[in-house]
Amino acid sequence: HLAAPAEFWLFGYGSLIWKPPPHFDQRIPGWVTGYVRRFWQASEDHRGTPKAPGRVVTLIERSYWEQLTDHHGSAPERVWGVAYRIRPDRVDEVKDYLDIREINGYTIHYTPFHPAPDAHLPQRSPIQALVYIGTPDNEQFVGPQDPQQLAEHIYHSHGPSGPNQEYLLGLEKALNELSLESGDEHVTDLSNRLRAFMSVQEEKRDGSPSR
Ligand code: BEZ
Repeated sequence: HLAAPAEFWLFGYGSLIWKPPPHFDQRIPGWVTGYVRRFWQASEDHRGTPKAPGRVVTLIERSYWEQLTDHHGSAPERVWGVAYRIRPDRVDEVKDYLDIREINGYTIHYTPFHPAPDAHLPQRSPIQALVYIGTPDNEQFVGPQDPQQLAEHIYHSHGPSGPNQEYLLGLEKALNELSLESGDEHVTDLSNRLRAFMSVQEEKRDGSPSR
């Protein structure tokens, strides 16, 4: 007998949450631990340009993050996202595609993914999943930033995939839709600052307070 090919799962904690990879046959909300999600990765190819890089999320190892001075001083133990199972007959193709996407500083890592409890499958055990991480040694790693400056930077950035603000607000929305406990203070605080800044800009432009 040939051994069954190992399943291939991909964990998304950023745009993958609402922009799925090709050829998946299962999508499961859940979390990984041991990491902190932060908008600390510069994006020259999706939400910014080489001359004016935007900001997208990466995962920081929690033990490393604890040594840093972050304006957002707390972070949830669980980093929520979704895991995608790639159809077994398409795994090679998708791996090739993902290798191409492994650009702009992200490298491939594997980590245990914990499926959220589900009424149909209450006892799912952790699944080994591929995750893209922009580690502190990569050129696009930015590190801690003042939240207000970061929100304004996101407001001003645009790239081939669209406005950086759409990415931030899309992430906030996608996280809130995963479960009642999947919100992330870092993402929510930046989104609130962005919205406040957007209305100030609107007021400046239109000369009247926005509703
Ligand atoms: C994500 O959505 O999880 C992701 C996608 C590309 C690079 C890094 C993270």
